[in-house]
Amino acid sequence: MDNIWSNIKGESMNTEEIMALDRNYVMNTYARQPIAFKDGKGAVLRDMEGRSYIDCVAGIAVNNLGHAHPRLVKSICQQAQKLIHTSNLYYIEEQVKLAELLGNISPHRKSFFCNSGAEANEGAIKLARKYTNKGEIIAMENSFHGRTITTISATGQKKYQKGFEPLSPGFKHVPFGKVDSIADAISKETAAVLVEPVQGEGGVVMPPDGYLKDLKNLCQENNILLIFDEVQTGFGRTGEMFASQTFKVTPDITTLAKAIAGGFPMGAILANKEVGAAFKPGDHAATFGGSPLACATALKSIEIIQDEKLLQKSRENGSYFQEKLMSIMDNHDHVEDVRGVGLMLGMEMHNSCANIVNSMRKQGVLINCAADKVLRFVPPLVITQEEINTVIRRLDEALKNFHN
Ligand SMILES: Cc1ncc(COP(=O)(O)O)c(C=O)c1O
Repeated sequence: MDNIWSNIKGESMNTEEIMALDRNYVMNTYARQPIAFKDGKGAVLRDMEGRSYIDCVAGIAVNNLGHAHPRLVKSICQQAQKLIHTSNLYYIEEQVKLAELLGNISPHRKSFFCNSGAEANEGAIKLARKYTNKGEIIAMENSFHGRTITTISATGQKKYQKGFEPLSPGFKHVPFGKVDSIADAISKETAAVLVEPVQGEGGVVMPPDGYLKDLKNLCQENNILLIFDEVQTGFGRTGEMFASQTFKVTPDITTLAKAIAGGFPMGAILANKEVGAAFKPGDHAATFGGSPLACATALKSIEIIQDEKLLQKSRENGSYFQEKLMSIMDNHDHVEDVRGVGLMLGMEMHNSCANIVNSMRKQGVLINCAADKVLRFVPPLVITQEEINTVIRRLDEALKNFHN
């Protein structure tokens, strides 16, 4: 019996040892980079061997406050000493405080709390169907909404669906950015349009000018709900707390997760009072949803975003970063486009960008590829201009050596 604890309780492991254990014991669902981290501070991560990396992934748009933010860490410790979990069988002080705060900072009044983005989208689909008493959801091609059966059905990319059929019925897909194609797809059975304001996994695809406003008008004219999947765009990523504020369009339902609690797992569905009232006791639930620890952490995380003016930083450093990316674009023929908003940026290449991701990692910068050809930059909102300069210098170098 002593043997079973040897790795678990032993000295900290090196990367090779971690990779070997992963191969043996973890299901092989992730094409992981050959790296594991020991600790982090701000926008910098340190690997098991002590090398430092500027983190432009932020746990895929999750660690908006950076790593190991002292106020968030303190809040988690303090709350854990009081209560981690009770149950939604009872009232929860931290949950009602968070719901009130979200009611004040978002375009919505009512909240439901869950644990992930996929779960938030599943719940939003249920809410839209319950409210409208209709079944059909119009979603976008090239979208991403999660990995459950229903959210891969909502997702407009075949690669996430293949092998997992039968899919959930009731989804139609139309091209992102074209209001006319949505108008054509609307039927008597349409409950809602589901859209990411900026497509994230699809390759940081920006909505064309006026598209989201036209979409809102179209939904209103046809009595259809508009659902914004803000799982990736929420909590300052696009320069305002929510992308609906960046683009000045108010949806009927918003889904949230990722950065909501600064890295602590959590998700939420927000809706106006009338739509939210469609859920009655027994309609929807989540054992862990809105626990004291998750809600206290989200409250602190939002407080830090406001105290440290991270929305302003996202706008200012986002523009700075984007300009710098543009400035090196001209040096490299294989860069096709630079785009994005706030600190949600993409650099599209002519070919797959996996080599650049590897080369950047070797130079101490973490980035990832979205949609195979797009280098995605979603750093913590606390990243400094000095760190951005370093990223740009190293990227310029990596692009010079890029052969494909
Ligand atoms: C827009 C969007 N929706 C939903 C999800 C799914 O979130 P989760 O992985 O927390 O289920 C993601 C994850 O990348 C996302 O980017």
